[in-house]
Order: sequence, then C-alpha cells, then structure tokens
Amino acid sequence: MALDWSSVRSEFPVLEDWTYLNAATFGPVPQRAVEAIEQHFRDRNETASLDFLSWFDDADAVRAQAARLLGGEPQDIGFLPSAGIGLSWVMEGMGWRPGDRILTIDHEFPNNIYSPLSLAGRGVESVTVPGGLEFTPEAMIGAIDERVRVTLVSALSYSSGLRPPLERIGRAVRAAGGLFVVDGTQGLGAIDINVARDHADVVLAHGYKWMCCPPGAGFLYMSERARRAIRPTVVSWRSHKDWRNVNALHHGAPEPADEGAQYEGGILNFSGIAAMGAVLDLFEQVGKETLWARVAELSERTRQVLREAGGEPSFDASPWFDSPVVTARFPGRDVGELALRLREKRIALAARQGFLRVSPHFYNNEEDLAALRDALMA
Ligand SMILES: Cc1ncc(COP(=O)(O)O)c(C=O)c1O
Repeated sequence: MALDWSSVRSEFPVLEDWTYLNAATFGPVPQRAVEAIEQHFRDRNETASLDFLSWFDDADAVRAQAARLLGGEPQDIGFLPSAGIGLSWVMEGMGWRPGDRILTIDHEFPNNIYSPLSLAGRGVESVTVPGGLEFTPEAMIGAIDERVRVTLVSALSYSSGLRPPLERIGRAVRAAGGLFVVDGTQGLGAIDINVARDHADVVLAHGYKWMCCPPGAGFLYMSERARRAIRPTVVSWRSHKDWRNVNALHHGAPEPADEGAQYEGGILNFSGIAAMGAVLDLFEQVGKETLWARVAELSERTRQVLREAGGEPSFDASPWFDSPVVTARFPGRDVGELALRLREKRIALAARQGFLRVSPHFYNNEEDLAALRDALMA
C-alpha cells in the first residue's frame, strides 16, 4: 500500500504556516513526540515517580530502536545531551601519546575542529584535509596512517553539504588501526549510516535536527572496539553494573558493565528520550528505505529549483554533494539577505559561509519546492 505522505505531514504543525526547509538547523518536532513528552509527565503524576526504574526500561526500548537505525546492537548505544559532550567523552577517554594524530576536514563544524585542537597541550596533532568543493576521498585516505588514532568526520557538512564517502574512509581507517568517529548530527534520520558497512567505531548524533527531537535528546554508538579504547570519563552511581539495585547501591569501586550506557552518567533525559522513541516509531512506520529515498528525491528536486532560480548547486561542481543539505551559490547576490527576504515570505532556510542552504526532509513535498522557486524568482 502506498504511504500516505499527507498524514505524515499532518504530524508537523509548523508546515501549516511555513514552508519549512531548515532541518539542518532545527528539525520540527512531530505531534506524537510532543504527546510522548506529555505522557511521561502525566505518568509521573499518577505514580508519584515511584516507579522511576521503569523509565530506564522505556529508555532501553529506545536504545534498541536507535541501534536498529544504525545497524548496531542495543548495548552499543548510550544517550547523550549534545554532540559536543559526546565528542568530549570520546576525546577525553582516549589514552593519548605525544605524536598521536586526529584527522578531520578543514570545513568541519567547530565542535570537530576545536576538540582536536584542544588536545595540543598533550602533544596530539590535529591534521586536516581540504573540505568543501576541494574535498577528495583520495586526500583523506592518503592522510590516514598508523599515527592517526582518530579520524573524525561529519556525515554531512553543516555549511557546504559535503557528504564524504563514509564506507571508503572507514575501510582505510580500520586497515590503519585507528578509530573512525562519525558525527551524524547532520544527516542521521535522513540518510543511511550503517556502522557495519561504514566501519564506524563511534557515531554520535544530537537528535534535534534530522531526527526531529527536542534539544537534549541524542545518542552515541560505541562499538566494542571503541569501548576497549575509550575509558568512561563521566563517573556516576550508574557506573557500577548493579545500579538498578537502588535500595542497596554498591558502595565501593564500581565495576562497569561493558556497554554504551556506561558513558552516559546517571539520570537520563527521560522525556526527551520518550520523544525520540516516538520519532523513531514514525521512521519505522514510514520505513527507513522509503524515507531515505524520499529525502534523496526531494534533495534532487531542490537542486533543480535552485538551478532554475539562477543558483549554482555545489553538487554540479563535485560528486560529493549528493546530500539533503543542499547548498548553492548565487553569484552577485547576498545569500544572507536572500534568506532573510525568504523568511518574510514564511520560507525557513539558512545561509552559511556564502551558500544558500536548503535542507528538505521527508515531510516536505512538491508544493514546498514550488513555493521556494516562486519566491526565489519573484
Ligand atoms: C555537524 C554538527 N554536529 C553537531 C552540531 C551541534 O552540536 P551540539 O550538539 O554540541 O550543539 C551541529 C549543529 O549545527 C552540527 O552541524
């Protein structure tokens, strides 16, 4: 049976008033996720929060959904409050030696530039390869050797939309013995990231963009290999494997369980995680392949619209821009001013680093793109 996209759309009230093409900044939170948050707080009132351990069980069900999205196992998943915090867990937990290298791309999101540079005092070298239109997988793969302990890339660049070939890079990283860390904040929920195929050791994703979650809801995939290399730096009452025994918590050196949850600390963002579960239900209802195919189709249509309106999509200059973060230059036009003008027509999108950035998601449709075209050509 064909999927009823208008019913998917009706879950996102923002679409009633806006042409919303800005998932790369904030994803709209669907109605069912708002209801899941409300339900969490209703339950608390009904039970006087006495059964709070059951909230961890509910979170474990979302862990399993997150694992399914990435092709991992539930015990590989830990929840995180932001991508930068997850990255700190990774970087601070590594046993660095002077001369170790971290490889990334020079146009990366600041988290992924600042975090390697902050380790300079410990003798860790930050190495970058050109990003944007100058990116080539060959340059990235050529920079990977046994000194590179971590290779860190965003699945999609926040500014240019660059979509580096994760599978090729991951294979080279694995062969050289380092860890492949993917920041999936831009993309997860709209594109296929598969930890086995892509040889990813760590995937971190703050869910407030393409996963349409409230801020503070995110997760981290940590492979068994990554868990051996990265020591948990957040120590809490849940660091001991028997933490569920809350009536008689262990008072001694903790023995952690070997799982992604050991990184996440104590009490979780239960309401945000409930919202994430509701969104992942929606994704599963739509079907991952169907969702990714629709996003790819809408991205291609967006590029067509930008061309028709005189834009120069990055995709036309490099094969590494087949991405739902659709960027284009508009020669002779100030894209910041253009984005503001479109906002007056209730079209939400962004300007970044000289590009107009349009980020369609599965809830968009042909009418949204027609509205964009008309507004750009007016
Ligand atoms: C690639 C990427 N990672 C992470 C973030 C957000 O980081 P944080 O969750 O630390 O605020 C963004 C926001 O634009 C991003 O584009």
